[in-house]
Amino acid sequence: MSVAKPLPHDAARLHVTGAARYVDDIPAPANCLHLAFGLSPIAAGRITALDLDAVRAAPGVVKVWTRADLPSDCDCSPSNHDEPMLSGGTLHYLGQPVFLVAATSHLAARRAARLAVIETAARDAILTIGEALEADSRFESGPVIWQRGDADGAIADAPHHLSGSFDMGGQEHFYLEGQAALAFPQEDGGMLVHSSTQHPTEIQHKVAHALHLNMHDVRVETRRMGGGFGGKESQGNALAIACAVVAAETGRPAKMRYDRDDDFTITGKRHDFRIEYSVGFDDEGRVAGVDFVQYARCGWAQDLSLPVADRAMLHADNAYWLPACRIESHRLKTNTQSATAYRGFGGPQGMLGVERVMDHIAHALARDPLEVRRVNYYGGSEADVQRGALPPAPAEPPRGISGTKEAGDGPVAVGGAPVGEDLASRGAPEGPEDQGGPVGSAGVQTTPYGQPVEDFILHEMTDALAASCDYAARREAVAAWNAANPVLKRGIALTPVKFGISFTLTHLNQAGALVHVYQDGSIAMNHGGTEMGQGLFQKVAQVAASRFGVPLETVRITATDTAKVPNTSATAASSGSDLNGAAVAVACDAIVGRMAAHLAELHQCSVDTVAFDGGRVVVGGQEMSFAEAAALCYQGRVSLSASGFYKTPKIQWDRQRGQGRPFYYFAYGVSCTEVVVDTLTGENRILRTDILHDCGASLNPALDRGQIEGGYVQGAGWLTTEELVWDDKGALRTHAPSTYKIPACSDRPPVFNVTLWDGENREPTVYRSKAVGEPPFMHGISAFLALSDAVAACGPAYPDLEAPATAEHVLEAIRRVRGV
Ligand code: MTE
Ligand code: MOS
Repeated sequence: MSVAKPLPHDAARLHVTGAARYVDDIPAPANCLHLAFGLSPIAAGRITALDLDAVRAAPGVVKVWTRADLPSDCDCSPSNHDEPMLSGGTLHYLGQPVFLVAATSHLAARRAARLAVIETAARDAILTIGEALEADSRFESGPVIWQRGDADGAIADAPHHLSGSFDMGGQEHFYLEGQAALAFPQEDGGMLVHSSTQHPTEIQHKVAHALHLNMHDVRVETRRMGGGFGGKESQGNALAIACAVVAAETGRPAKMRYDRDDDFTITGKRHDFRIEYSVGFDDEGRVAGVDFVQYARCGWAQDLSLPVADRAMLHADNAYWLPACRIESHRLKTNTQSATAYRGFGGPQGMLGVERVMDHIAHALARDPLEVRRVNYYGGSEADVQRGALPPAPAEPPRGISGTKEAGDGPVAVGGAPVGEDLASRGAPEGPEDQGGPVGSAGVQTTPYGQPVEDFILHEMTDALAASCDYAARREAVAAWNAANPVLKRGIALTPVKFGISFTLTHLNQAGALVHVYQDGSIAMNHGGTEMGQGLFQKVAQVAASRFGVPLETVRITATDTAKVPNTSATAASSGSDLNGAAVAVACDAIVGRMAAHLAELHQCSVDTVAFDGGRVVVGGQEMSFAEAAALCYQGRVSLSASGFYKTPKIQWDRQRGQGRPFYYFAYGVSCTEVVVDTLTGENRILRTDILHDCGASLNPALDRGQIEGGYVQGAGWLTTEELVWDDKGALRTHAPSTYKIPACSDRPPVFNVTLWDGENREPTVYRSKAVGEPPFMHGISAFLALSDAVAACGPAYPDLEAPATAEHVLEAIRRVRGV
């Protein structure tokens, strides 16, 4: 059985030898054109004159397009039809594409683009959250507000209250492979596009729209991305459309890739947020009521900002029971790059809000922040339950920790039935859950949006991690160190993650697959998911090999292709393996069923006696290879190809009311980070990190571990060194690795203990696994709060540390806690 084995990434060898093919590696014919955009030099205003003569005359230039030369508005928006590929005169941000150059080489196109003379009339740009609020510049007519109970009253009546406000910066995706696309014109108006995208169907749809084609005229293929991280859900549209427009008009292939500086300057990033909070609590730090106001800086176009801001609201509770709460969200429109999806999709920002509140409460009460967190966990402390204040937590068998889940453990059968049947029959959404009150009918607490928290395992996980990382003793050691050392201060923090799994736009929770068994017994597998380094293809191939009972090598992984599986969702929301793994299982089971029926008939035995295992097929006591079985079925005229389809059950969501069950289940984790800060310079280092993370019954513990390690480091990067700086003209000054600091190998924790929680998903996902792509990102929050803890050792005031906690921000925060 392939599933649950810690196998390496299927393309690891290709990645490290340079043989893995990315868009820019696809051999292109000699007549291929290379494209570059000319960019707006100002953040807001309009074009008064556009002189492109020098561009047209530049060496190698074949043609130049302005907005008026395009076949349509070539809209690039994934949501609101508010992103024409080229400016029609109005300028919305510094870096906005204004014209398009096609030349005989990449360099010629880029050089030529710089020769334009763009005259503009500037107006005052709206750059910051403050400026946007002042100008009431926003998407939607006003703030979105979701609430439960009377938060203001609960805060006022509580024995203690406090309030605060803090800012957290955005984040550049810094995928190693930049945005890229390559279009080949086909006969009779068709178009083939290779795109580095998480969303081939979106590329197909946008290219078809731009060229007035039907979707069936456009085929999009994506073999892999060199990282996406959410930055390739929508940001690749412009390049693919540009290539398709040029290819359609010239009849020549066209390729476009952004150089790193252009990628920074043109494309959207993580939303920066400001969060204001006020909270009322008791002597033990138990929250009675809390009010959050979230301000998201969305940039110039809507893009995915509304669902991102929604997800920030949906994670304002993180792991905590908030009896009365009010969450207000402002989606602000500014003259900056259009902020977009980025690992966690708003969840990290919302979660950091409540983690900051827990930390602030603990500081105010001079308590261990972990104690304050634990009294607020869903399910309540034992004392709360005994006092009758809270219903008992749902019974969950305690589970141990195991570092690896070996193949011998075997996969967990899905509800006893063959995985496909079970998954397929569970497609219909069920009726709304009990939303009568904060506590559902089963006695389970609900989130602020009314979803029962049925699978809460953070009590056990926190116990386990606190024990394995020796939290209590190390906290004392940190205090002793700080008492003895005036210059170097240490800090430690242990924080939880509860992350909702599913797209909040319910209809996106569907996937398709196409599986072929050839007459030689080899298998080709295709599905709607895309590979961006996360290991999705390997996990899904392991599922396919397990369904057929064949060695993994029997399964060929093929590129994502809109002509093979249509109407796919973006590979996003961490749901790639849940959705596509299940769809592939359904397709495989259909073929296995047909093969078994035919072989049983041939051998005059019952279907139940046919078994597929170890590359062999046993029929009525006789054994043959899988290849022989495939050949027999082919000769018997049995169809050896099937499509599979899966839709996530149980979910339903009323966005207007902010009520429902948007998530099929939650993924959980806990992490503990210890840091040291040089109080003279603000420089700091992570000393040790321990993570315990819940992947359900892991489909592949090695790949899941990679996601946890990488997610943590990326999350810590967001909150420490990765700082985006725009000047007062709206120019992004940090647009290359020289000025924007992502974590390097030397920044990873010298002690880094990552353990998988040995459990299974209580929902019947594919082999009872859990999604893992985004949740570990939020373990980076423990690094940020450990820095805050170290700063707190410098003086009496609460350290109002801003994110990212760069050395400069740490130093400023130290000055403030010292009152100097
Ligand atoms: N891991 C790698 N190596 N590269 C990536 O681009 N993207 C992340 C995460 N892990 C990413 C990654 C994001 S934003 C998501 S949504 C998930 O992977 C998507 O893949 P999955 O649904 O298959 O987990
Ligand atoms: Mo991930 S931000 O959902 O692509």
